[in-house]
Amino acid sequence: MLDQLIDKFHRKITYVRLSVTDRCDFRCIYCMDEKMTFLPRSELLNLEELEWVGRAFVELGVTKIRITGGEPLVRKNILQLFQGLGKLKGLKELVLTTNGSQLEKMAISLKEAGIQRINISLDSLKPARFKKMTRVGKLDKVLRGIDAAIHAGFKGIKINAVILKNRNHDEVIDLVQFAIERGIDITFIEEMPLGVIKEHDRAEAFYSSQQIRDDLTTSFTLLDSTACTDGPSKYYTVKNTDTRVGFISPHTHNFCDTCNRVRVTTEGQLLLCLGKEQSVDLQAVIRAHPHDITALKLAIIQAIAHKPEKHNFDMTAAPQILRYMNRTGG
Ligand code: 5AD
Ligand code: SF4
Repeated sequence: MLDQLIDKFHRKITYVRLSVTDRCDFRCIYCMDEKMTFLPRSELLNLEELEWVGRAFVELGVTKIRITGGEPLVRKNILQLFQGLGKLKGLKELVLTTNGSQLEKMAISLKEAGIQRINISLDSLKPARFKKMTRVGKLDKVLRGIDAAIHAGFKGIKINAVILKNRNHDEVIDLVQFAIERGIDITFIEEMPLGVIKEHDRAEAFYSSQQIRDDLTTSFTLLDSTACTDGPSKYYTVKNTDTRVGFISPHTHNFCDTCNRVRVTTEGQLLLCLGKEQSVDLQAVIRAHPHDITALKLAIIQAIAHKPEKHNFDMTAAPQILRYMNRTGG
């Protein structure tokens, strides 16, 4: 069997984003609707199945797995999965995206379990506004979580900030300053039209990476960084600091031609592109062929052949992608 995943457009798939739960203790306004229904537990992959998926991908040449959600750290016994994945031969990077709410108590055990790097979402440094954007989150707790991750010795900690016009666009300089003071990196993300939300009009709230970059240059000098993170971010280094500032601009830049990733949802749907609905049901394969890694690998190989060439997000149209980010694996 081929042990590499290469799609029709000659892109090599080496990176999987694995969503381990659709649940979250926050309700960010750009990610979820206020009232969300979560999946019944029986529809989720269990921890063994998640590890099995990870193993199949690593045997097919994947070298990086990012654990996402929902909020991955609210899933019960999740450390067990990290320990299992951490042992996979061939996996070079096991990394995590979290909202930071559980880091204060979990940072050290995450390090011990084999997580190598952490991305933490932080959209505002103002408590009332943070609460408004997450609907329920407590800023203090997240800030203590970020410090706990730094103290636990994680290198390459990165803040992710989704910037919305008239919500938090006036904080981009403060957020970069926050990152500089802690010697960590920060990435600004343009909102993507995933799932139907009623809270705001996405076209109206759109704030482009270009605008953010312009705002930042009033206070900082951004040096073009050659840093290649195998991803869609464009990076700059803030002059005289260790901090890098990244931009993810799905609307203004098309980064699809170098896409090296796929996503697996909480229910075990293999998503071939963030901006398209095509998916393959890996859960069905696993449950029809228990303990048969070859069947699972074959299903993955066949799926990769259908990876779309590119996404085409349109903020002015009704969302074409009906799944929310918490199911997609943000
Ligand atoms: N558009 C852009 N980013 C989003 N995230 C969640 N929903 C969206 C969306 N609709 C971000 C979170 C987090 C990361 C995992 O994805 O803020 O930083
Ligand atoms: Fe939760 Fe992350 Fe979605 Fe916010 S963006 S509601 S923290 S999954």
